[in-house]
Amino acid sequence: MSILLTGGAGFIGSHTCLELLQEGYDIVVADNLSNSKAESLKRVQEISGKSLHFYKADLLDREGMEPIFREHEIEAVVHFAGLKSVEQSVRHPLEYYHTNITGTLILVELMQKHNIKKMVFSSSATIYGNAKRVPIQENEPLQATNPYGRTKLIIEEIFRDLSIADPEWSISLLRYFNPTGAHPSGRIGEDPTGFRTNIMPYLTQVAVGNLDIVNVFGGDYPTEDGTGVRDYIHVVDLARGHVKALQKVVGTKGIEAYNLGTGRGYSVLELIDTFERVSGRSVPYQVVSRRPGDVAISYADPQKAWAELGWKAEKNLEDMCADAWRWQSNNPQGYSD
Ligand code: UD1
Repeated sequence: MSILLTGGAGFIGSHTCLELLQEGYDIVVADNLSNSKAESLKRVQEISGKSLHFYKADLLDREGMEPIFREHEIEAVVHFAGLKSVEQSVRHPLEYYHTNITGTLILVELMQKHNIKKMVFSSSATIYGNAKRVPIQENEPLQATNPYGRTKLIIEEIFRDLSIADPEWSISLLRYFNPTGAHPSGRIGEDPTGFRTNIMPYLTQVAVGNLDIVNVFGGDYPTEDGTGVRDYIHVVDLARGHVKALQKVVGTKGIEAYNLGTGRGYSVLELIDTFERVSGRSVPYQVVSRRPGDVAISYADPQKAWAELGWKAEKNLEDMCADAWRWQSNNPQGYSD
């Protein structure tokens, strides 16, 4: 029996592949490589000393996906594939709706056809919108503020409807807070194509000398130092959360959402300060105006994942900075090096 990972060559996908291989799973990856490189999977296999099956395949191409289901006995699917830039989703909403939602529908139809009803889905804390309370619990009202977030919300709703219509389905919706860091080997990490909008890849690019200065978006938030507060979570912790969720869906039925976060918030300035300390590099920054659409404070209540999955984050902000830096300094141009 195999586990299929859609989008398995990406940042979170590749780290999850590695954890699953190390746990002894047989894995199959389907990725169209639109925002990832096959090199990540080569390195995953090097680190683990184990091999995986890779298909360069697009979820929107139903015929291209079929052989995967014919050639492997798939037990469950971990579904990462999708577009993920908030900014791009505002400019190209139809592309986002089509890729993320139609892609998921095709995947689920293929799964149904082959009688596979176990799914772990990459959702996002972005669907809490401007949450009224922190720490954020899973039963907070959901609200998307941009097309990207709306695709995640709509897909969660689709899975809920599916689970009502067919109680044989077993689905875990994993709501990620702010994934960052890299594998401690420094061999795999985040390698965004195009423009960087997330803070850590931007920071490491400034530290490595490829970019000049970090713009800190907003110094007047109602937080201790005025900058935005987020729940940064190490990608290896996040990947392990997927292993736990997979173990749960394989043995149960029904649908549940889980926050994957540390439960601790750090401000942008605390992040920069920690990064400078850990990397030994100084990171020039300037405080500029707020970025439209940003919330002041977001961090998880991760209790449910601990109670029901037996998972909690173990790595701290120093680990995230040290590992992100090791990855970036060893691979200044990412996988293109
Ligand atoms: C963003 C997405 C979110 C997505 C998540 C994935 C937005 C509005 N939200 O979350 O939907 O799920 O990434 O990782 O894009 N910051 C700076 N300077 C920068 C970049 C960021 O000061 O150059 C600040 C932001 O204002 C924020 C914090 O750093 O306070 C984190 O930002 P970012 O890494 O972009 O993540 P989010 O905006 O939280």
